[in-house]
Amino acid sequence: QPVYLSDYQPPAYLVTHTELTFDLDPAATRVKARLQIERHPSADSQAPLVLNGEHLTLISLAIDGSPLADAAYQLTDEVLHIADVPETFMLESEVELAPSSNTALEGLYQSNGMYCTQCEAEGFRRITYYPDRPDVMATFKVTVIGNATSEPVLLANGNPVDQGALENGRHFATWEDPHPKPCYLFALVAGNLHKVEDSFETVSGRNVTLQLWVEQENLDKTEHAMASLKRAMAWDEQTYGREYDLDLFMIVAVNDFNMGAMENKGLNIFNSAAVLTHPNTATDAAFQNVEGIVAHEYFHNWSGNRVTCRDWFQLSLKEGFTVFRDQCFSADTNSAPVKRIQDVSFFRTAQFAEDAGPTAHPIRPDHFIEITNFYTLTIYEKGAEVVRMLRNLLGWEDFRRGSDLYFERFDGQAVTIEDFVGCMAEVSDVDLSQFMRWYSQAGTPEIDAHGEYDYAHGEYHLTLRQRTPATPGQSDKLPLHIPVRMGLVGTKSGQDLTLTLLGEKLGNDAVIHLTEDEQTFVFTDVAEAPVPSLLRDFSAPVKLHFPYSREDLAFLLTHDSDGFNRWDAGQRLAMLALDDLIAAHRNGVEKVMDSRVVEAFRTLLTSAMSDKAVLAEMLTLPSEAYIAEQQPIVDVDAIHAAREFVRQSLAVALRDEFVAVYKANQSDEPYAPTPEQIAQRSLKNVALTYLMAIEDEEGITFCETQFAAEHNMTDVRHALTLLVHSDRDDIASPALKAFGEKWAHDPLVMDQWFTIQVSRPQPDVLERVQYLMQHPAFSIKNPNKVRALVGAFAQNRINFHRLDGKGYALLADVVIELNRLNPEIAARLVTPLTRWQRFDEERQQLMRDELVRIKQEPLSSNVFEVVEKALA
Ligand code: ARG
Ligand code: ZN
Repeated sequence: QPVYLSDYQPPAYLVTHTELTFDLDPAATRVKARLQIERHPSADSQAPLVLNGEHLTLISLAIDGSPLADAAYQLTDEVLHIADVPETFMLESEVELAPSSNTALEGLYQSNGMYCTQCEAEGFRRITYYPDRPDVMATFKVTVIGNATSEPVLLANGNPVDQGALENGRHFATWEDPHPKPCYLFALVAGNLHKVEDSFETVSGRNVTLQLWVEQENLDKTEHAMASLKRAMAWDEQTYGREYDLDLFMIVAVNDFNMGAMENKGLNIFNSAAVLTHPNTATDAAFQNVEGIVAHEYFHNWSGNRVTCRDWFQLSLKEGFTVFRDQCFSADTNSAPVKRIQDVSFFRTAQFAEDAGPTAHPIRPDHFIEITNFYTLTIYEKGAEVVRMLRNLLGWEDFRRGSDLYFERFDGQAVTIEDFVGCMAEVSDVDLSQFMRWYSQAGTPEIDAHGEYDYAHGEYHLTLRQRTPATPGQSDKLPLHIPVRMGLVGTKSGQDLTLTLLGEKLGNDAVIHLTEDEQTFVFTDVAEAPVPSLLRDFSAPVKLHFPYSREDLAFLLTHDSDGFNRWDAGQRLAMLALDDLIAAHRNGVEKVMDSRVVEAFRTLLTSAMSDKAVLAEMLTLPSEAYIAEQQPIVDVDAIHAAREFVRQSLAVALRDEFVAVYKANQSDEPYAPTPEQIAQRSLKNVALTYLMAIEDEEGITFCETQFAAEHNMTDVRHALTLLVHSDRDDIASPALKAFGEKWAHDPLVMDQWFTIQVSRPQPDVLERVQYLMQHPAFSIKNPNKVRALVGAFAQNRINFHRLDGKGYALLADVVIELNRLNPEIAARLVTPLTRWQRFDEERQQLMRDELVRIKQEPLSSNVFEVVEKALA
């Protein structure tokens, strides 16, 4: 059942032009296809034509106008096989399908009554019989016929070329996309939609119409996405020299969507959560997320659409590069160090966990059963880290030249990761052959570092040793080419010292290359004892171990010139304290707070640090999930208790400082998602979080006032969350109720209402989840609801990991139900259970039992692949 990269064969037949006509109907949509097909020059003249097709009812089939006899083709649940076809021909087919019963949300489906599509990766085969693979690229002409009243708006890729009325209250629109594309970039939307329109003048002076299509009640939630789109278009011109290539660019918001959004040519389709914002309904984080996703999908127009992937094993070619591009865009638009801190802290929590678990896979997997299971943090985020390393190895200018060469040479083609890295090697003198191992080797490399200062010779000896732990199917790992950006911070001067290596002066901040299993770097002319600052700006996606003392960390926290490493020093310092407290909790010993952490926080709070956004990050403790990642065996309760103890100790010791910070960062300005305002709100809300850790009376009043003021959703949600997560149910319950009633009509706010309740630490959460699953605002068929309620519950560490196993059982029940409705979402939701090896024996057994129970069901290939790996 698995497909292997090594089995890749070019397609025997190419489609050069595709014409589709959709006659829409919820239960019986008819799709007529006319495909202009050519045999591949290198294919055997006897080669049969094999087309993908699933969940389709075939109505008719003809070649060059002659209907095909039954004996001329074979049909299975998955393919249409025609043994004998000419060298070039026109294949005509008609099929019927039922969008209204498509709960998988792949192919053509209905969301809130409107028709929409999701074809990546292999959804187009649910629309018509076709070679559903990205290396078959055709121009498309699409006619959509719908009901003029219920579907007044009919959209497809490219440019509108015709439209008109038909009989029986029907009408049609015809669209043409002149750019050859693989079918995964096909899209169609039909429904009662309303648009917001704007325009963008490209660098060469062309005028592009920009349209955002939404349901009427969401017209007031489009401003930020539109502004983000325009910023992204300008940024891609300035930064990568990439200009948009059609006269029209459309974005559509739909409520039911498996992922964030999709880069269909000229017609991006978005999960409403990834595009709609309003100060009253969306938090700062949501605003920033929307900005990043709008940019991401737009950037795909070049990194993905103009140059696409040869096969799905190359998925990271477009995703890793495009994530890197959107990260840089967000960094340039907002606070760059905060963007890096947030990305890395998420990466080290979630991607490291994936890379250490049973579904670990390389950025370019060598086999898979179900490609939708590979839209992962590894393909996307680790893929982006690897592209970032390329940028760092080459420097921006050569990297940009490599990117230009890649887009120019491969425009209109479906290519591989070698093609991309090859361009980078070609424009620079950097040998990237060892670097390629990053694409084939799974697992997080660990670097054990130690250093010694030789006073007599003024030398600093830094030894780095690398190893990558075994991952499923890959027991032996080779050394990787790891760029380590670093500095040596003088303990006397508090300044970066000049780095001299083998007689060469490298400056104060340099990249050293770790390529062997072990290497020692001897820095000369080091005038004072330094503390090394390693892996600055997280220069490689690795775990770095260095025996820092707490004094070293407190020193780096205030003296490191690298903002990211200052933050990281604080996190490491907190981790050392947390480790002691976790041990104390387990051994039943009294917990004692490390005063060095308190003093470090006091310094931060009282220093006039100018970047409030960075300060807010520095005052935030590592999450329970991150702490868990650092432990050999996860002790859920000890981690929770230790972290709460640190939070409360800091709150007690620094109460007045937190009150002062809270008060000093109030603002009556009208809401704007600017970096300055966001920074101020984050800092204020971090201070409030500490005050609520001790349920400080003044803190409670701040929360009540902030909630009641209804100034913006960031503040309202934060205050409500703190109340609901406290033991003051007397205040929290009425607030929660009022909030739920006020926003009952708004699905995206109700998602937040669900999440707030099921992430509280109190032990009633499981019952709440069960109760809320019956709430009228919940629907198991809507992926956002499932994520907001059930997904959020599975992230609630102490409640999900209850020792009676009921948390696991609840998740398994939902996975079993979703396996029938939406396999892609089911396979994602099961992830927390697949991490069973990380827990104590009792929990391991309970988690495995649930996986075994799931496995006894008739499973989709999606869930099967994940569960099988988890139990292997
Ligand atoms: N290419 C899309 C993006 O990264 C995501 C595609 C989602 N595919 C899926 N099978 N859910 O922007
Ligand atoms: Zn993408």
